[in-house]
This record gives sequence, C-alpha cells and structure tokens, in this order.
Amino acid sequence: MVLMVDEKYRNKGIGHQLLDAVMKDFGDLKIKNIQLGAGVGSYIWPGVPTDLPGAVQFFKKYGFDFKEEIIDMVMELNNYSTPQYVYDRIKNLGIQIREADISDVSGILDFERTNFPNWYIYYKDLCDNGDVEKIHIAIYDQEIVGAVILIDKGITWEDYFGKKTGGIGCIGVAENYRNKGIGLALAARITESLKIKGFDISYVGYTWLDEWYGKLGYKIWRKYKMGYMEL
Ligand SMILES: CC(C)(COP(=O)(O)OP(=O)(O)OC[C@H]1O[C@@H](n2cnc3c(N)ncnc32)[C@H](O)[C@@H]1OP(=O)(O)O)[C@@H](O)C(=O)NCCC(=O)NCCS
Repeated sequence: MVLMVDEKYRNKGIGHQLLDAVMKDFGDLKIKNIQLGAGVGSYIWPGVPTDLPGAVQFFKKYGFDFKEEIIDMVMELNNYSTPQYVYDRIKNLGIQIREADISDVSGILDFERTNFPNWYIYYKDLCDNGDVEKIHIAIYDQEIVGAVILIDKGITWEDYFGKKTGGIGCIGVAENYRNKGIGLALAARITESLKIKGFDISYVGYTWLDEWYGKLGYKIWRKYKMGYMEL
C-alpha cells in the first residue's frame, strides 16, 4: 500500500480517512498482512521514506509495526572506475564475468530457479523478450555461479534526477561461492557497462548493503522504514 496526501492538504485528517477506507477494504477482502510500500514490480517507495516528516509516526500511531530499514543508493558515473583489486581477486580464482548470450538462457534460468526463486520471473522475462544481453553472469568451471541484471529503463526516479539513470538489479551469488569477491565484481561490471552506455547515474533500489556497495562508491540516497500490520 502507498498512501499520499498533497502537501497543501496535510494535517486535516485526509490521510487518516483514506487509511480507514483502505483498511476496511483489506478486512472485507480477508487480507491478513499489510505492508507499507512495495518491493516488487514497478513501485514508488519500498517502505515509508524517513525524510517525510511525521510519516513514520503517523503509521505507528495507527498501529503499524516498524522493523528493518531499507535503503536506495546512487552513484554519479562520470568519475567511476573499478578498483583494480576487484577484478584481480576473481581472476586469481578462475572466475570469468561476461555478458550473457542466447546459449546461456537455460543455465541462467536453472541458476535462478535453484538459488533465487523470487527473482526467476525477472530473468525469465528478459530471456523471453530477447534481452538476455542485459544479464551478466559469473562462471566457474563452465558453471554459472552468479548473475545480475543491468537495468536500462524504468528507474522511477530518473525524471527527478533529471539525468540518464540505470541500475543494478537482482544481483546474486550461489551460497557456496559467496565472500570471494564475485558479487562485487558483478556489481562493478554493471556499473562500468552503464557508464560505457552513456548513463549518468547508477541506482540501486531496495538494499541494505550500504558498506558493500559503498566499496564501489555508491552512496545512500534515501532510507525507508519498513512497516507492517497483521489484521
Ligand atoms: C550480496 C551478495 C551478492 C554479495 O556477493 P558476494 O560474492 O558474496 O560478495 P563479495 O565476496 O563480492 O564481497 C566483497 C566484499 O564485501 C564484503 N561483504 C560480503 N557480503 C557482505 C554483506 N552482506 N554486507 C557487507 N559486506 C559484505 C566481503 O567481506 C568482501 O569484503 P572485502 O572486499 O573487504 O574483502 C551475495 O551475498 C548474495 O548473493 N546474497 C543474496 C542475494 C542478495 O542479498 N543480493 C543483494 C540484493 S540488493
């Protein structure tokens, strides 16, 4: 759910009434778990932005429970270059990172189905729509051990930034291969590709890995508190 009231009309009880109405609908529909914001498909905010004065408090008062914090991160790409150690580390391990092609489709889909079933649909959509080259993969001994999506359109905040904005999506490394530098190399490769393709900003939505993306130069842009209610 995302609830918005024009700034001019705030503090007049409108938000409360809208929330009452939608909560009643949730009740009628026998929906049990409500989440503020959203994290899949096309969305505006993944949770309640912490820079909106009073917003978290408003929902707390209503009975929402606030748990984890999620962030969006951005980086201006004009001065970006990948630190040398990022690629050296994986080269020494015999890991290759490259853009996927049509021959990788079944391997990619098997990898996502096994390791990240929630992301399978996004990878499948790209493969079905002939956009497989937007996927980059990490390979060890002919096996896919990590994958990531280059997002080249549809970043919600592109107009707000007023600059050509792309991003990193659904980045994942197989559990047995984590903490070897593969994930960071995949993130670096996408960042570099965005720069080469003429993007001004790289955006990472819905993450909590501030230190990790920070190693490449990404900075926190917005923070969100994740609010839930059980009916
Ligand atoms: C997040 C993920 C992609 C990281 O990939 P990885 O290959 O394990 O990470 P790397 O080995 O490249 O990490 C490199 C560095 O970050 C550190 N690091 C690894 N995971 C980290 C984490 N969760 N938080 C902070 N730092 C982390 C490593 O210690 C290493 O530090 P160093 O450069 O000082 O040696 C991987 O853990 C994963 O697939 N997780 C599940 C999916 C997921 O959460 N994706 C992110 C969604 S935004």
